Amino acid sequence: MKRIIEVKNLYFGYEKNLVLEDVNLDIFEKDFLLIIGPNGGGKTTLLKLILGILKPWKGEINFYDDNISKKIGYVPQFSSFNKNFPISVFNMVLMGTIDSKNFIKKYKKEEIEKTKEILDKLDLYYIKDENINSLSGGLLQRVLIARSLVADPKVLLLDEPTASIDITSQLNLRDFLLELNKKITIVVVTHDPTSFAQIYDHIACVNRRLFYHGRGELDAQLLEKVYGCPVELLGHGIPHTLLKEHI
Ligand SMILES: Nc1ncnc2c1ncn2[C@@H]1O[C@H](COP(=O)(O)OP(=O)(O)O)[C@@H](O)[C@H]1O
Ligand SMILES: [Mg+2]
Repeated sequence: MKRIIEVKNLYFGYEKNLVLEDVNLDIFEKDFLLIIGPNGGGKTTLLKLILGILKPWKGEINFYDDNISKKIGYVPQFSSFNKNFPISVFNMVLMGTIDSKNFIKKYKKEEIEKTKEILDKLDLYYIKDENINSLSGGLLQRVLIARSLVADPKVLLLDEPTASIDITSQLNLRDFLLELNKKITIVVVTHDPTSFAQIYDHIACVNRRLFYHGRGELDAQLLEKVYGCPVELLGHGIPHTLLKEHI
C-alpha cells in the first residue's frame, strides 16, 4: 500500500492544554482506517489538523501525492452541524463543489450534473427538493456524505458518522463506505466502532497519545489502556466485536 499522508511527531493543544502528544500515523492509498478512542481523546482535533483547520504546535503532516491535501473530503460530526439552516437537499449537495477560496460564484453546468449524479448514486434524488431540516438523521447523514463526494475526493474523513443514526442506517452506511473504499481512502473516527469492527484495514487508538496503529487484533489490555477504564465497563460489547476473527 502506498503511503499518502504522514503524521509525524505531532503535538497540539488548545491554549495551554496538551491534547495530542507525539502522534505518529500513516494513511495509505485505499486504506480503510478506523480511528477509535474515548470522548475527549483528541480524535476530532486530529482530523482538523490533517485538514489544515488547526496548525500543529510541533511536528509535521506530510502529503505524498499530488494535490492530495486539496482532495480530502470531510463529513463533520453530526452534532456540530446546524440543521435549521433553510436549504434544499439539492443545493446543500451542490455547495460541496465550492472550494473555500471561491465562495461567490456561479455553478457550472458540470457541477449541477455531478450533483444530480451523486444524488442518484446515493438514492437521494427523490428528496432533492426537500428542506434538510425535515430529514431523519440517517438521510441527513447521507446528504452530508453526498456533499463531500461531489468534489471527487481521494480521501474521505468521517467524524462519528454513526452517532445519531439507527442500526439499519448504520449498516447501510457501512456497506456504502466499503463500496466507496474500492476507489478511495476512507478514514472513520468513532468512539463506538461496533459497526465497523469487521471491515477496517488499519485501526488506530487515540487518547492523547496514539496507542496502537496496525491491522487489528486488539486485545483487552490495550483497550483498557486507551479507554482508561476496565473494558467490562465500556458497554456496547466493543472489545468482543473489535477483536478480529482469526481466519
Ligand atoms: N475549540 C476547543 N477549545 C478548547 N478545547 C477544546 C476545543 N475543542 C476540543 N477541546 C478539548 O480538547 C480535547 C479533545 O477534544 P476532541 O478532539 O473533540 O476529542 P474527541 O473527538 O476524541 O471526542 C477535549 O478535552 C476537549 O474538551
Ligand atoms: Mg470528536
